[in-house]
Amino acid sequence: AAVAGSEPVFSPALSPQEGVEAATDLFREAFGAEPDGVWYAPGRVNVIGEHTDYNGGLALPIALPHRAHLALRRRDDRTIRLVSPQTREAIDVLDLDAIGPTGTPGEVRHWNAYVAGVAWALERDGLGPLRGFDAALYSCVPLGGGLSSSAALECATAVALDDVCTLGLAGTVDTPDDAGRARLVEACIRAENEMAGAPTGGMDQSASMRCRAGHALELDCRDGSVVHVPFDLAAADLTLLVIDTKAKHSLVDGQYGARRDACERAAEILGVPLLADIEPGSLEAALATLRASKATDAEVLVARTRHVVTEIDRTRRLVALLQDGTPLTGEKLAQVGALMDASHESLRVDYEVTCPELDVAVQAARAAGAHGARMTGGGFGGSAIALVDTAAVDAVARAVVDAYADHGFAAPAFLNAVPSAPAG
Ligand code: ADP
Ligand code: GAL
Repeated sequence: AAVAGSEPVFSPALSPQEGVEAATDLFREAFGAEPDGVWYAPGRVNVIGEHTDYNGGLALPIALPHRAHLALRRRDDRTIRLVSPQTREAIDVLDLDAIGPTGTPGEVRHWNAYVAGVAWALERDGLGPLRGFDAALYSCVPLGGGLSSSAALECATAVALDDVCTLGLAGTVDTPDDAGRARLVEACIRAENEMAGAPTGGMDQSASMRCRAGHALELDCRDGSVVHVPFDLAAADLTLLVIDTKAKHSLVDGQYGARRDACERAAEILGVPLLADIEPGSLEAALATLRASKATDAEVLVARTRHVVTEIDRTRRLVALLQDGTPLTGEKLAQVGALMDASHESLRVDYEVTCPELDVAVQAARAAGAHGARMTGGGFGGSAIALVDTAAVDAVARAVVDAYADHGFAAPAFLNAVPSAPAG
């Protein structure tokens, strides 16, 4: 359990150079050869716009400096061999012709599903046939921390295969091809949904593939269009502090799917394709329609719908604040913080996806001076974010550690979410 007064532990991000070296060393050790190259993709945090992606709404993620690195070498046959530090002594061997969601989802074992799944999905999308490959994974995206370690893995695989199989979709790091990347994102989502069996919405893969350094990504999930919103935290002496609660969560255990299902049923009752079609001005009328419906869980549908519609509106407002060109200080900073706080409350009360570790983290961060704090990602554990004066980072992190000690929770970990570059 967390110990009051102990030093906050920060999860470091490897520099690109360190990541390349670590993945290359692992590749050499496992396969006794040089890789063709090393590709990487970041994890993400979402600033606001949670559980909106599968409803066709807005999200606002940033790419983390924490990345998955994949050293990869193309083969002439259709074999895939995979190794990671966790499985160093046992190289996993797969056959590209034998993989696919033929049986139950998640048939290919654990993390292999994300890598092989992308190769399979690219071929399914008509971008093959591909070759097999050997690959070594070295990731510093915390695993299962709600920071999209799996999307980082998928996106690193996608840009690697794009390069060695000359698909020509990703462009370069300096001149990314956004339309091409959007197609790679589709394959990554398909791998996650159909091979790994997690019914997620696609924000994570879009963030990892399409973000820009120094910017947040306004993602319109209705049509996949994006706007790069300047988000220069350092210029305002601010830090976006990530609090990894270390609480266990699973997206495949049915809770996430249940939220998605409720949204789809609400949209059906309301006669719209997506909940994003409900404008804030017609929310009360929509909620009245849901209450009057024959659904046995009408009040649940009311609460879920209220979250989605208000969250999209909060996202729109936060983007407008960031876009106005003035420094992120004073009243404007207070408004951004208030939108983050309101998002958390909506996720706690109406969407019911927080947990005690997330609630305590945001309360402690706010009490210690954060301008705003909220859970980020799917919920049920995972991570929270707090917008903090850089000078106050240590005090806020210590306050969270102490609050966790008071509650008998496991020690949290911290990350500094500097808006970073996409997959490359
Ligand atoms: P999160 O987004 O919280 O990290 P996900 O469920 O999306 O959680 O992804 C976690 C899964 O991704 C792990 O269970 C594992 O299968 C895979 N994974 C991610 N990174 C690694 C890694 N470095 N080594 C092995 N597996 C990994
Ligand atoms: C994530 C999921 C995303 C998104 C998010 C909630 O875990 O992968 O697609 O739905 O939860 O905003």
